Amino acid sequence: MLRVSGIELTKAACLNGVIGSFPTVNAREPAELDDWLTRIAEACARADGPTAPVCPNVLMRTDPEKLDADVQVLIKHKVEMVLASVGSPQKYVGRFHDVGCFVLADVASVRHAEKALEAGVDGLVLLTAGAGGQTGWANGMSFARAVRKFYDGPLVLAGGISDGQALLAARVLGCDLGLMGTRFIATREALADERYKSMLVDSGIDDILLTRGISGIDANFLKPSIVACGLDPEVVSQPISKEKSRELFSAYAGQMRGPKRWVDLWSAGHTVSAVQQVCDVAELVDELSAEYRQAGAEALKLARL
Ligand SMILES: Cc1cc2nc3c(=O)[nH]c(=O)nc-3n(C[C@H](O)[C@H](O)[C@H](O)COP(=O)(O)O)c2cc1C
Repeated sequence: MLRVSGIELTKAACLNGVIGSFPTVNAREPAELDDWLTRIAEACARADGPTAPVCPNVLMRTDPEKLDADVQVLIKHKVEMVLASVGSPQKYVGRFHDVGCFVLADVASVRHAEKALEAGVDGLVLLTAGAGGQTGWANGMSFARAVRKFYDGPLVLAGGISDGQALLAARVLGCDLGLMGTRFIATREALADERYKSMLVDSGIDDILLTRGISGIDANFLKPSIVACGLDPEVVSQPISKEKSRELFSAYAGQMRGPKRWVDLWSAGHTVSAVQQVCDVAELVDELSAEYRQAGAEALKLARL
């Protein structure tokens, strides 16, 4: 997650057995990316128990020079997997495959899914309605079933996975994995501002505003953060062009006139309703796994009826 997932969150995820991901743009320069990957690999090598792989997230529509340099670092580290989002990964799929890297692509429609598969990706992340950040629009249950009609490869559901029960539901729908964002913002290891974490604890699903008015494309934001910036959620709900949004809500310090999106205007998904407290990644993973097991036992009872 942009400005949220850094080395500590990713490392803690991998050490606790869940795939840890971070957008490579969160590392300011390729040397920092190199350093993060080295330190995560070292921590995993020292761990007593099993660890999960790191899955760097490559944003395809970013500065092409930085993107090229980041990809070179990922290839040097022979990362096991990558997640490509916001644009087609076609240009890089071959280079990732040359080092045995498994390529996942974020897709928000059946057409996107077909195009990603044509580009040669190894698995799909279904970005669905209610997801934190730049959200999808398709209902998760229907989208997973629609894609399963023509694709039997690795499938990940993103958006709406609030807890272990929802994670099991994703598996029942035919997905292999679930991708969770918002729940992990409210962890001690996340880079997010402490006030952002507290706001997640205090907010519920009704506090989420779906709007194009901030980033020029559909994204979910916390209404209380919009109000705290002195803006009216009704006004911010009005769609504006990407160019205009960049002018008003630049994501980068030094370029801004108004509040900065992701920095002052905070994003969360519908899963915010499940955030009860700020905790460590290890505690969150334990909670999710206990819920998952309990949901499995309940589901067996239901299946016997
Ligand atoms: C603050 C924030 C930043 C995000 N940044 C990214 C990103 O940089 N790249 C990406 O592929 N997805 C990003 N996402 C989306 C998540 O990867 C994921 O799809 C989403 O959070 C899932 O929904 P959930 O938050 O309800 O669990 C972001 C989400 C949030 C909340």
